[in-house]
Amino acid sequence: MISHETVFITGGAGFIGATLAARLVEDNNIIVFDNFARNSLQTSGLMGHKNLTVINGDIRDTAAVMSAVLDAKPDRIVHCAAIAGIDTVVRSPTATLDVNIVGTANIFQAARKLGSLKRILSFSTSEIFGSHAFQTTELSSAVIGAVGEARWTYAVSKLAGEHMALAHFHEFKMPAVVVRPFNVYGPGQVGEGALSTFIKRAIRNDEIQIHGDGSQIRAWCYVDDMARALLLALEHPAAIGQTFNIGNARAVITIYGLANTVIRVLGSTSKIRFVRKDYADIELRVPNINKARDLLDFEARIDLDEGILRTAEYYRGVAI
Ligand SMILES: NC(=O)c1ccc[n+]([C@@H]2O[C@H](COP(=O)([O-])OP(=O)(O)OC[C@H]3O[C@@H](n4cnc5c(N)ncnc54)[C@H](O)[C@@H]3O)[C@@H](O)[C@H]2O)c1
Repeated sequence: MISHETVFITGGAGFIGATLAARLVEDNNIIVFDNFARNSLQTSGLMGHKNLTVINGDIRDTAAVMSAVLDAKPDRIVHCAAIAGIDTVVRSPTATLDVNIVGTANIFQAARKLGSLKRILSFSTSEIFGSHAFQTTELSSAVIGAVGEARWTYAVSKLAGEHMALAHFHEFKMPAVVVRPFNVYGPGQVGEGALSTFIKRAIRNDEIQIHGDGSQIRAWCYVDDMARALLLALEHPAAIGQTFNIGNARAVITIYGLANTVIRVLGSTSKIRFVRKDYADIELRVPNINKARDLLDFEARIDLDEGILRTAEYYRGVAI
């Protein structure tokens, strides 16, 4: 387990970054760099922790990123900061490209100036596999999608980030690793996400809206499983220079099935309504995580029913 180190987390106020910070903060010095477009830290119980330093900054600001990294001299960097979430991406495709490409270039440039660095972990996404991704392995080809379709700006910007990370590994021997999460959910999620929305509405017995016909298939990864994968990717020597698909290939379900599962598990009386969708969608997305299992000994442990119950408990405890 990582201890007595400084870990610099961009986007550390977000859902996954704050979850990871909570795992590391007792034994390490954590620096969060975030512009607080989203804020999961406020319900994390971490604010004010003696080992946590929060820097309010924009990842697009080259000078601010450089000075924050050089001041902190981190042992490890985790680059979570991004514009994520389909609604935000479709609303702001230029900001998506800017934050995810320029921001990633900024953090790698700053990392290059450090005398030593044990690991830099960068976030990509399963969206780089396009609309149909079944049992995708790390060697499956990326799919760029139609140019002009706002949704794909996210995948393209993340793909650029993957190249950035691996290019730094090859050219500068930087100890980079890339993770591609497949639909993460759980306590602390403040951004968009079908499952978090369904759970919040089911708790209130409000109508649950499904975009399209509900036949889209996803695999749902509970955030504790994700955090465990990140810790392995941050520590394991075999992870350097690698890309990993991370998800729960057992928690596979259609969106309609998901809405019904949430209603059943939470004993809700919510009704389901289908609404039109006006953007390109992902029809099928199921990971193959054999590489993470073989190299990192990672296996998702939390099944869907259990994850839904735990997440609902969190949302009941915060004002939603
Ligand atoms: N949650 C998922 O299912 C999922 C799936 C695939 C990939 N990812 C990737 O994982 C990472 C973390 O995702 P998350 O779910 O925690 O998202 P999130 O939106 O909760 O966290 C992202 C964080 O980045 C910050 N941020 C945004 N723009 C910024 C900027 N210009 N400067 C500084 N900070 C900025 C936000 O304030 C937020 O705290 C992201 O890179 C995302 O693309 C997440």
